[in-house]
Amino acid sequence: MSAESYKVETHQYDVVVVGAGGAGLRATMGLAAKGLSAACVTKVFPTRSHTVAAQGGVAAALGNMGEDDWRYHFYDTVKGGDWLGDQDAVEYMCREAIPAVIELEHFGVPFSRTKEGKIYQRPFGGMTTRYGEGVAQRTCAAADRTGHAILHTLYTQALKHDAKFFVEYFATDLVKDPRDGRITGVLAIDLNEGTLHLFQGHAIVLATGGYGRAYFSCTSAHTCTGDGGGMALRAGLALQDMEFVQFHPTGIYGSGCLITEGSRGEGGYLTNSRGERFMERYAPNAKDLASRDVVSRAITMEIREGRGVGDHADHVFLNLAHLGADVLHERLPGISETARIFAGVDVTKEPIPVLPTVHYNMGGIPTNYHGEVVQKVGDDPDVVVPGLFAIGEAACVSVHGANRLGSNSLLDLVVFGRAVANRCAEVIKPDTLHRELKGDALEPALTRLDKLRHADGGTPTAELRIKMQKTMQADAAVFRTADTLKQGCAKIDEVYAGFADIKVTDRSLIWNSDLVETFELSNLLGQAVATMHSAEQRPESRGAHAREDFPDRNDVEWMKHTLVTVDDNGRCGFDYRPVHANPMTDDVKTVPPKKRVY
Ligand code: FUM
Repeated sequence: MSAESYKVETHQYDVVVVGAGGAGLRATMGLAAKGLSAACVTKVFPTRSHTVAAQGGVAAALGNMGEDDWRYHFYDTVKGGDWLGDQDAVEYMCREAIPAVIELEHFGVPFSRTKEGKIYQRPFGGMTTRYGEGVAQRTCAAADRTGHAILHTLYTQALKHDAKFFVEYFATDLVKDPRDGRITGVLAIDLNEGTLHLFQGHAIVLATGGYGRAYFSCTSAHTCTGDGGGMALRAGLALQDMEFVQFHPTGIYGSGCLITEGSRGEGGYLTNSRGERFMERYAPNAKDLASRDVVSRAITMEIREGRGVGDHADHVFLNLAHLGADVLHERLPGISETARIFAGVDVTKEPIPVLPTVHYNMGGIPTNYHGEVVQKVGDDPDVVVPGLFAIGEAACVSVHGANRLGSNSLLDLVVFGRAVANRCAEVIKPDTLHRELKGDALEPALTRLDKLRHADGGTPTAELRIKMQKTMQADAAVFRTADTLKQGCAKIDEVYAGFADIKVTDRSLIWNSDLVETFELSNLLGQAVATMHSAEQRPESRGAHAREDFPDRNDVEWMKHTLVTVDDNGRCGFDYRPVHANPMTDDVKTVPPKKRVY
């Protein structure tokens, strides 16, 4: 079948949002509320998006439970990101956190409450008062189901404002106008009907989440396949800081299910086979509430040095029983159930077996703090790509730098989802006429679709996927060296090349999960290659990128963002952007780099 033989229905909206997690929904509802026509194209029903799994909370310096200030939050976030975050964007996020969370409250998010009726806030790793002196209670929680509460509320808000949803539509590729290369749309398959759709918009917003499923063990849903990042790479755009992959210290041993950091915020602690609270040695002040990269490395060290628990001494324990059944029931009901189902553990009596597990991608599609995608053109590192936005885990603003602090992710979703809606309302006039696209604009996306649909090689998608996941798990791990990364690059390049031999069995377009998984694998593969090679080319340790052969941070040469492109043959190209070292305003002072200790 040729590309011309596909019938494609065209839809035109002021703005098209791809993805219906927290960021996509906040953008969609905001756009609709501002009078723009907004379509949200999503491969899963909105309230099944991965944000639903976010547990511990959303950070904002409300000061409901003690002293706090958004400037302390700003400082913690810059330090937590090991000075790779752009300080202007960090200022924007931490300052906007307060109105953004109050707005969520007004939208109807059922936050847990203090006795006085204020939003309940718990401590989280790396969140301090007075620039590192005290412990901040900054993370606003709805028990341990905060993402669930936010996602459902935002969806109802979007419906209230008459946003249009295209549910179970899988977006395959961005569509460019061949006349000037402007991105003007996205091609999607209606999975239910098996029909093809072009969504045209004056702005396309990628809110497609992270690519956790490039790894074997992760807290991410099976749907977290980095579809936006894959589309951006195929459109020739560079991704940023892909070497920075966060391991959450407490995934359940075996299944990888998330046990919230909020459990340590409520007083839980880690122990090794000797029953020692080992975090005291690695982070004497913050202990179990040090930032995630520090705790994940500490657990890995304990296991390596023979102090792991279990038959294979290959994990550690998270102790919660001392908190008592009442606190566990009120504050941590979700993880109590998860531990029972996935670890067979009654948390009121026994510790949970845990292991660092891939949780979050700090890297992604580079943007400024309006959510506009930026690329380096000539000597200018911040050139806006007209009409293209990215938000949430798909994006790299960069507010999280080399390591995200827990509860800054739900925050990033709502702050930058809101920022995109505001920006679009500034620059797009409702109902402006759309460009007329010539037929050949769709040619590259349709040709690719047809090729994958009829792929008749010898390698089933699942077989290649597991090879990719095992390679990433082994060689782009918590600790890295030149040798493991060299080997990892060779292996991941081989896996990438294996995609030429992919086999799709189902040729139909109706609920063809075989084809969808193949599209998803191609998205994952581009980002897996980008991650491994980006890690190999950065000879320093910063945040989540821990090189045993280069144990120190090198601010002189490497305080810069990595930009990586991946061509059709899987070859990476590298360039760099300077970190924005100064905040947006004089309301807060630049945080100068220093040694990062907790
Ligand atoms: O541990 C957690 O509840 C996860 C929160 C986050 O990643 O922000």
